[in-house]
Amino acid sequence: MPTVEPGTGPSVSRDAFGRQGFGAMRLRDGAGGSIDRDPVAVIHAALDAGITMVDTADAYQNEELVGRAIRGRRDEVLLATKFGLVWRDDVAGGFDIRADPSYVRRACEASLRRLDVDVIDLYYLHHRSEKTPIEDTVAAVAELVGQGKVRALGLSNVTPEDLRAAHAVHPVAALQEQWSFLQRDIEQQLLPTVTDLGVVVVAHSPTGHGLLHQPRGAADGQTASDLRSALDEIASSHGATAGQVALAWVQHRQQVHGVPVVPIPGTTRVSHLRSNVAAADISLSSDELRRLDSLRAAT
Ligand SMILES: NC(=O)c1ccc[n+]([C@@H]2O[C@H](COP(=O)([O-])OP(=O)(O)OC[C@H]3O[C@@H](n4cnc5c(N)ncnc54)[C@H](OP(=O)(O)O)[C@@H]3O)[C@@H](O)[C@H]2O)c1
Repeated sequence: MPTVEPGTGPSVSRDAFGRQGFGAMRLRDGAGGSIDRDPVAVIHAALDAGITMVDTADAYQNEELVGRAIRGRRDEVLLATKFGLVWRDDVAGGFDIRADPSYVRRACEASLRRLDVDVIDLYYLHHRSEKTPIEDTVAAVAELVGQGKVRALGLSNVTPEDLRAAHAVHPVAALQEQWSFLQRDIEQQLLPTVTDLGVVVVAHSPTGHGLLHQPRGAADGQTASDLRSALDEIASSHGATAGQVALAWVQHRQQVHGVPVVPIPGTTRVSHLRSNVAAADISLSSDELRRLDSLRAAT
């Protein structure tokens, strides 16, 4: 069971995040027909495998489903959701960002209702706003913490300056950013600030939205063939898949950079969930990490 510490610090302990979380973005009711594709079974398989963090957002439009799936198992879950990204009704789609305090309060009440819980363990600003100073947004979340409706603050899609400004108002427990072999901007842009502030990095889209799970050939336009060969060779020596090695690579960022890193692979299949969980046990050698890093640098 995750230990959640009351008080004024980042009130979710590092241990509560676990080694790997679960990204619920794509889960939908009626997705499947088979038990492998049943969204509630996927979340139950995650919890059964020892995953504690379940990540959703109001914008994913599946909070009711997530709430239903964790009912009866609430104390096993570090429940993370997000606010601020509001889909437009127009034909073109797209979204607006809302991060003003009155919106934050309304969004929180709505998420609590849809999730059918008393408290959100980790509440993220989904995307920085050009209109509302981040200090105002964070002060509103801090109020929600004071009221017992939220345990800890997270940020996503922000700048290092946002992160510092937010942290000065209320401790930021987690920063959720894309981090995979194919997208490493975080290393240059945000890691120095993350290290300074002691924030947990939650790595989303750790296989490049599934690209690194695809068989050789399918993704060669976007990943150099040397990289595919290295992933395949390393995978075969571990009795694993290339996608699992790509996930293990993200998992190893913690030891490489000395910051807490928790990948949140997403899947809509029980079988894939189990395969992703198993990737957390793959131990890559320094030589393997060096080989992958040098190839990446050359691509
Ligand atoms: N903060 C943000 O702005 C933001 C943005 C994007 C995502 N996220 C979060 O990050 C989570 C993960 O991101 P993601 O879902 O885009 O990316 P991902 O985990 O990198 O990839 C998901 C894709 O990979 C496939 N897949 C997963 N496991 C597989 C396996 N073992 N074998 C073969 N294919 C596999 C999935 O298909 P199947 O469903 O068929 O397995 C899906 O197409 C999301 O669920 C969400 O919670 C956050």
